[in-house]
Amino acid sequence: MKKVLFINGSPNENGCVSIAMDEVITVLSDNGIQTEKIWLGKKAMPDCMACMKCQETGKCVFQDQVNEIASEIDEIGGIIVGSPVYYGGPNGRLTSFLDRLFFSIPDDKFNGKLGASIVSCRRGGASAAFERLNQYFLMENMHVVSSQYWNQVHGFSAEDVKKDEEGLQTMRTLGRNIVWLLKAIENGEKSNIHIPEHEEKTFTNFI
Ligand SMILES: Cc1cc2nc3c(=O)[nH]c(=O)nc-3n(C[C@H](O)[C@H](O)[C@H](O)COP(=O)(O)O)c2cc1C
Repeated sequence: MKKVLFINGSPNENGCVSIAMDEVITVLSDNGIQTEKIWLGKKAMPDCMACMKCQETGKCVFQDQVNEIASEIDEIGGIIVGSPVYYGGPNGRLTSFLDRLFFSIPDDKFNGKLGASIVSCRRGGASAAFERLNQYFLMENMHVVSSQYWNQVHGFSAEDVKKDEEGLQTMRTLGRNIVWLLKAIENGEKSNIHIPEHEEKTFTNFI
């Protein structure tokens, strides 16, 4: 079965987002699904310059984890992204990374993969950040996995999140839904039910 990639966009490697992601990862691991969790670090993150070079080469001009993920995209069955809420949205580090990831990798490579967003806030703005992050999946023929509530936890520190029982339960439920869908997709492939092939995209700029 393909692995599930977790991208932690928080500058705090072991902070609130990480605790929430680990709750999902435990469920996946318990069910035999391989996971990889990457952290985007604390250094300034390059954003997309719209240079369009990736459209010729399939690679981002910035040599970082974007191109590492691109090289293993066929082995990935699901992408889970996690962000702290900054001023009611996802943090810039993560969106700068995801803009380049989703723009530089050919669209058909994402077709049929699972996607989910996880957000952590002290108090408010979680649903706006969550909706923003889901936009990446929703225009790439990916399938956004749901849970019993929006995928959010609350806390200012990792210790706070460990006390957010409903938030952590939401993460475990998300994990079980990911497991079920990955198994359903794999068994579908074995039963000749394949991920749909799509028409070449029309690109019209409204004219
Ligand atoms: C620049 C900045 C902006 C923030 N904006 C919000 C916000 O709008 N709403 C909120 O509830 N918490 C806000 N917070 C708090 C973080 O979202 C919260 O502590 C989060 O759980 C941290 O996750 P992490 O430990 O994984 O980095 C902000 C924190 C920072 C540093």
